[in-house]
Amino acid sequence: AVERTLSIIKPDAVAKNAIGDIISRFEKAGLKVVGARMMHLSREQAEGFYDVHKERPFFNDLVEFMISGPALVQVLEGEDAIAKNRDIMGATNPKEAAPGTIRADFAVSIDENAVHGSDAPETAEREIAFFFGDDGVCPRTR
Ligand code: CMP
Repeated sequence: AVERTLSIIKPDAVAKNAIGDIISRFEKAGLKVVGARMMHLSREQAEGFYDVHKERPFFNDLVEFMISGPALVQVLEGEDAIAKNRDIMGATNPKEAAPGTIRADFAVSIDENAVHGSDAPETAEREIAFFFGDDGVCPRTR
């Protein structure tokens, strides 16, 4: 089915000037950018977005990293977009990411891992609404 998923190009990848290369990988895989916002997240936004992780030991480091510089928040659309995006990203820990994936090529550590992608339809819906609300994403054309 055609799905939408939330993608974040994180501050480490933005700082490396890798935005174009990463979007090119999404587009070559058939995913379309249907929403995009360049954002320097506030602490409140980062904490709210990653609320599900707030009891985890890495939460504070995750928030500090996500507010360390600008990030590109996007909505990607395509056939099986959620799983496809996760395949293109590779494993959360870049040391375990398959060759040719974004995290294998751009990430240095599990903390600074270049990209985020929604992991399921329910989280995609929540995450898209978190950043875009009812506004800012292109309407479906197909
Ligand atoms: P992301 O997909 O954005 O979701 C939460 C982030 O927390 C994850 O990518 C990692 O960058 C970071 N993180 C740090 N340590 C861990 C860990 N042990 N397990 C999962 N995520 C972690």
